[in-house]
Amino acid sequence: MTHRVRLLPSGHEFDVEAEESVLQAGLRAGLALAYGCSNGNCGLCQGRLISGEVKTVRHTDYVLTTAERARGNIVMCGTGLVTDAAIEAPEAGGGDVPWQEIRARVTRVDPLSDQVSVLHLKTPRTQRLRFLAGQYVTLSLNGGEFNSDYSVASCPCDDMRLQFHIPRNDDDAFSCYVHGNLGKSDVVGIKGPAGDFYFREQSERPIVFVAMDTGFAPIRSLVEQAMALEVHQDMSLYWMAQGENGANGHYLDNLCRSWSAAFDNLRYRPMVVGPGCKEMADAILDRLKSDLTGTGDIDTYLSGPAEILPALKSGLENLGWAPERVFTEPLRHNLSLHRQFARDC
Ligand code: FES
Repeated sequence: MTHRVRLLPSGHEFDVEAEESVLQAGLRAGLALAYGCSNGNCGLCQGRLISGEVKTVRHTDYVLTTAERARGNIVMCGTGLVTDAAIEAPEAGGGDVPWQEIRARVTRVDPLSDQVSVLHLKTPRTQRLRFLAGQYVTLSLNGGEFNSDYSVASCPCDDMRLQFHIPRNDDDAFSCYVHGNLGKSDVVGIKGPAGDFYFREQSERPIVFVAMDTGFAPIRSLVEQAMALEVHQDMSLYWMAQGENGANGHYLDNLCRSWSAAFDNLRYRPMVVGPGCKEMADAILDRLKSDLTGTGDIDTYLSGPAEILPALKSGLENLGWAPERVFTEPLRHNLSLHRQFARDC
């Protein structure tokens, strides 16, 4: 039987299945709950039971102190619900998520186009990655010989199975290793997370996501979190690719189309643009201007080459967008691919 929990002070509500823990259900609902090991050892997932009845669904080694018990605290990764409940529990904002070091295993490397592969990693059950949708981490391969930063492309609601979009780049040792040598069960080091590009879930404004090439990775994470949170406002997703068979293309076009078919409030707008920075910036601004004029009170998330972001931000400001509602994330990798692009900006 399913029961409903209300979190305080946020007021977020979500359902908890019969043998599910409150923590599991909260992460599945897209919430950034505070926790550590997910396994009953650290005590970092404590919440305070305000009302309702709870039960143990998983053994936890962490023993609540007398003071914690007196406050009514529970260890949420081992606790399920017997009735509907209200629980006081902190939720993370940007900068609140602790720095972690994890050794994950490769489950597979999926080529999605001749230019981009998805690296699938699985963390140990006892050491999952806490992160906010949109953040990035440092990955290291071959015992630390190759390192590079990548945005996490999967949703924090599954903190054990992580995805990263790796563009092919013959000048980059990390990329070459992923596309040539990396195999199932190889170890990949993860350090992080970092970055302040995360979903502003308290906002009620319409949302515009603009992804440029593999800038789609953090946007995918944001969109999946927005869907997990069941946000009701209008969302528009623009994906600009530099030539369908060139650079990186819309390598997950079907996924975006399936989102758009499943969610009435999400519109997907793929666009193919020329290779230049100015050409791409003009195309984005023209399209947003014609689609969204008069609705500048919008949360806009832009992710793409670092060189284009200032031009886009000031262009949006000229169109009446509030600058503090425009959030940007540069590509964290693969900079040499964009040397020509940078000269053109
Ligand atoms: S997350 Fe460590 S005890 Fe629950």
